[in-house]
Amino acid sequence: MYGFRRNAQGQACLSATPLSQLLAQSGLETPAYFYDLDAIAEEARALIGGYGSVRHVVAYAVKANSAGSVVRTLAAEGTGADVVSAAELEVAVGTGIPAEKIVMSGVAKTDRELDLAIASRLLAIQAESVEELFRIATRARSLGRQARVALRLNPGIEIESHAHISTGHDKAKFGIARADVGRAFEAIDGSDGALLAVGLSTHVGSMLTEVAPYLTSAKHVCDVARARRDRSPPLEYLNFGGGFGIDYGSGRGVRPADFARAAVELLRAQDLADLMLLCEPGRSMVGAHGVLVARVVQSKVSADQQWVMIDAGMNDLIRPALYGAKHRVEPLECEPSAPAWRVVGPVCESSDDFGEHPLGSRVPEAVVIRDAGAYSFTMASEYNGRALTAEVFLKQGVITNISPSPGAAAWVERRLRA
Ligand code: LLP
Repeated sequence: MYGFRRNAQGQACLSATPLSQLLAQSGLETPAYFYDLDAIAEEARALIGGYGSVRHVVAYAVKANSAGSVVRTLAAEGTGADVVSAAELEVAVGTGIPAEKIVMSGVAKTDRELDLAIASRLLAIQAESVEELFRIATRARSLGRQARVALRLNPGIEIESHAHISTGHDKAKFGIARADVGRAFEAIDGSDGALLAVGLSTHVGSMLTEVAPYLTSAKHVCDVARARRDRSPPLEYLNFGGGFGIDYGSGRGVRPADFARAAVELLRAQDLADLMLLCEPGRSMVGAHGVLVARVVQSKVSADQQWVMIDAGMNDLIRPALYGAKHRVEPLECEPSAPAWRVVGPVCESSDDFGEHPLGSRVPEAVVIRDAGAYSFTMASEYNGRALTAEVFLKQGVITNISPSPGAAAWVERRLRA
């Protein structure tokens, strides 16, 4: 049994170890992130299991959590990677993921990034526009190489999600619109061999809680693949994207493996089972398996409000401020109980607010912010002169690695030099 849970005494644990004990062992100041690598490995195995015997690559979206310990754990389970920058590509390669399991996405890849991707012979550069295809062809010619490309298709559908994380609709900057697919293939076919079309991809957004929108966009990918059926050389893969939702506390109906099984069924029903299947999950691989531990600095009680001020803020975990996301904030050493307190961070912004949480009648000394494994540390900033936090990695409930905070002194020095 891995991941977050409470022991018989009600203490918050990651794997079997109380987080208060891990914090003491680490010798770290709060706030600090803790991740359970076994739970992450288990998550990967469950998703991979959903593909059964179908040839596939689970291309982990490194943007969700780019820590070497995390990516290495996934690489050891056989995953590939979806990267969106040269730096993420270097992390993926550095953790041992083979180039033929890596795809690069992104609407504004620089020439340097394209050159690196071409020279690395990735599975594919996933092009997001016709204009980008022309640029990739130019870079490939100047390197004297052929570039393996996929078209990221924008199916033009709305999903039920936060506007900031919905990407497959007509107004989004992402992907190639239906009307432009013909021109995109013309750019490839007319490139005199500079470009090789190897795949089709899509990604309609994040936090999907149902399989239906995933299948709607996947069907569009299948339609385009069938229309391209007789071309030689044939396509190698179809990528239906990531976006599998996790349970932030309000329940979850579908598991990531349900998306995989549905994708396999669709591929067979569409008579495209000779192609390899890709997916690009980020959040679902890591989100539930990391927590942020913070100390309570003080409380404040006024006429009709009661606040708890903690030492973690929106610079450490921006999802509540940016998307109105709710992460459960709970006492570290006992189960949550009424009354609720408004939990806020130290940053000088009204949006530095984690919402109302049942912290109990005695304000706890420390809290745990749950489901902070994805898009949490990777979106952190140093706003207000607050250093990036430390990260702690566990295996079998034991600390195996600590990535220390650069510390506030380093921030001061850099700012003075600026
Ligand atoms: N593929 C592409 C092309 C993407 O843009 C993304 C996420 C993924 C895969 C992985 O999606 P996932 O499985 O993690 O949902 N910061 C936001 C989420 C932004 C997602 C950006 N793209 C959040 O904290 O909710």
